[in-house]
Amino acid sequence: VTGGAPDEPPLRLPDRELLLEQGAAIVREAWRSFDRFRPGQPAIDATLADLLATGLPDQPTDVGESLAVTAEVLDQSLAQPRPRFFAYIGGAGLEVGVLADFLASCYDVNLASWAGAASEIEAQTARWLGEFLGYPAEGGFFTSGGTLSNLSALLAAREQALPGARSRGLEGRRVAAYTSIEAHYSVVRAVEAMGVGAQWLRTIPIDRERRLDPVALDEALRADRDEGILPLAVIATAGTTLTGAVDPLDDIADVCAEHRVWLHVDGAYGLPAAAVEETAPLFRGLDRADSVSVDAHKWLYMPKACSVILVRRLESLHAAFGHEEAYFPHDDDRLHAADAGLEYSRPFRALKLWLAFRVHGAAALRAAIARNLSHARLCYELASAHEDLEPLPLPPPLSIVPFRHIGGDARNREILRRLQQGGDVWLSSATIDGRVHLRPCFVNYRTTDEDVHALIDLVTAS
Ligand SMILES: Cc1ncc(COP(=O)(O)O)c(C=O)c1O
Repeated sequence: VTGGAPDEPPLRLPDRELLLEQGAAIVREAWRSFDRFRPGQPAIDATLADLLATGLPDQPTDVGESLAVTAEVLDQSLAQPRPRFFAYIGGAGLEVGVLADFLASCYDVNLASWAGAASEIEAQTARWLGEFLGYPAEGGFFTSGGTLSNLSALLAAREQALPGARSRGLEGRRVAAYTSIEAHYSVVRAVEAMGVGAQWLRTIPIDRERRLDPVALDEALRADRDEGILPLAVIATAGTTLTGAVDPLDDIADVCAEHRVWLHVDGAYGLPAAAVEETAPLFRGLDRADSVSVDAHKWLYMPKACSVILVRRLESLHAAFGHEEAYFPHDDDRLHAADAGLEYSRPFRALKLWLAFRVHGAAALRAAIARNLSHARLCYELASAHEDLEPLPLPPPLSIVPFRHIGGDARNREILRRLQQGGDVWLSSATIDGRVHLRPCFVNYRTTDEDVHALIDLVTAS
């Protein structure tokens, strides 16, 4: 498709109203198919496999046919919004979020500098999210994921602990950061990327509930201070990826206050549960953190990607990321959005969360999270009651429910392989205390109790 007459702009789509309808029909079919589980997972068929091996097309291909092929490609991909996708920490592709992404992409605003109402929506959504979670955010920045949000937080912490480090480097200072042995590896990547070095990430032991031990943290900080090592930040996890454990934030905040160390809470997965009555007490002390990360593309059901770093003081982000460039001057002392984060060009990620809060309301989001918590409880009860299954000794704090078949590691791997071959349910595994577990995670608003029963039935029949 190259366009019409010579003075017409190139790259125009013919019949675009018709194509819009075709696109809408694909979405309609996808939504219908996500409403309930789909038995099996189609393999990539031979025709599509041939097509996927072809070289760069120099000449146009019919756009209607190309869209139809795209629908097939997507149908033969693993889609996390399906209600029986329990692997890793899934995404749910909230419908209003899909519409928001479509519109945001259409307008393609530049959020590096002030972009009118879109910039105001980013700021408002960060405030709403803080309110939802019970965190007193002065501001925030939307990023591509927890990995980038955690790195941004640690860069802000470094600048506070060692002002000027962003330009002068560490100048030979020995520095360290502190997190639990079960923190997400994005924390390791952050210290690697910052040039601190992974060996200077102190991994603190955990208690029986797999939560960071604040006494051990205090000892580690003292030992380092005695050695002249400068603590940059403590990273607590509010919902670990392995088991959903929530570190004791209030006790950790006490230790951080005593040592005057930045407290970052990695709530990429679990933090939305702070908004729900039954789990809110687990997050006591959250309001004392200097920064928090939360991935709205996990347990707030948004399509990827939509992560947010929230901070108590917006100035802490500006100190770490502000820039004055000849081609990007500041008028009237107004800072650019890009002065608060690592990314310059980025999509309008806030729109989907803003629309979700507006269209559904915070109460419905809280109810959906509470429903996922009930799926986790049901899964734990069913696994506990089954003679061949063995869950972890304590009930799940959030919505991750590791359990294993008593037949041993090889048996659990075999179950996983068979389930993935069948495709009726999608699970991943995790090694906990040296033993292979199946590890469902419930973060999908489409999942039902029937799906949870099916999961247990399929595991025990495999
Ligand atoms: C606790 C935690 N932190 C950070 C991340 C990384 O998030 P992302 O994949 O959005 O970069 C994850 C991902 O699962 C996580 O569970």
